[in-house]
Amino acid sequence: MAQRSWEILESACYSCKKCRLWEMRTHVVIGKGNRNADILFVGEGPGEQEDLQGEPFVGPAGKLLDKMLASVGLSLEQAYIANVVKCRPPGNRDPHDDEKEACLNYLRYQLLLIRPKIIVCLGRVAAQSIISPTFRITKERGQWIERKGYHIIATYHPSALLRDETKKRPAWEDMKTIRAKWDEITTNGGQKE
Ligand code: URA
Ligand code: SF4
Repeated sequence: MAQRSWEILESACYSCKKCRLWEMRTHVVIGKGNRNADILFVGEGPGEQEDLQGEPFVGPAGKLLDKMLASVGLSLEQAYIANVVKCRPPGNRDPHDDEKEACLNYLRYQLLLIRPKIIVCLGRVAAQSIISPTFRITKERGQWIERKGYHIIATYHPSALLRDETKKRPAWEDMKTIRAKWDEITTNGGQKE
């Protein structure tokens, strides 16, 4: 099998027509941050600004995500950020099941390139795609699970925090838990296995 590479991923995504979302996209949004990161954040899909600029989390939700990371001393130097779907769902609707299924193989491939130790699902759509289809974000966020050697957790999507201030406190608790896990793992040699 050919060796995995970012170039292969990029060329596959940039020409992808595997689901209907390709028709309205301006840009395919693959990800940003440190490609050797120990921690991967996964959102839902590009919004308007992301579609226009070709980068994830550059709009209002992205500004808040930057602040959430900074509040526990993390930044794009230590983290990588991607989405479940790489093209914008029209009007920011939730991606449909067939769209998520079509796109998830790219995220899986990305995971194998990055090999993070921690995966943070931002919001219900990411948690239901990555952890379990029946995941309930309000009840089950903030709890670690381990799967295939990855430490996985879900927290609220920053857009949810923009809509509902009362979610900020639990999200902040989650960020502290995430930082603690990151410390535990990186002080443990911080070496990739
Ligand atoms: N919301 C997301 O889920 N992803 C982005 O990239 C931007 C906003
Ligand atoms: Fe391809 Fe994913 Fe875009 Fe659908 S959302 S067209 S699967 S890159």
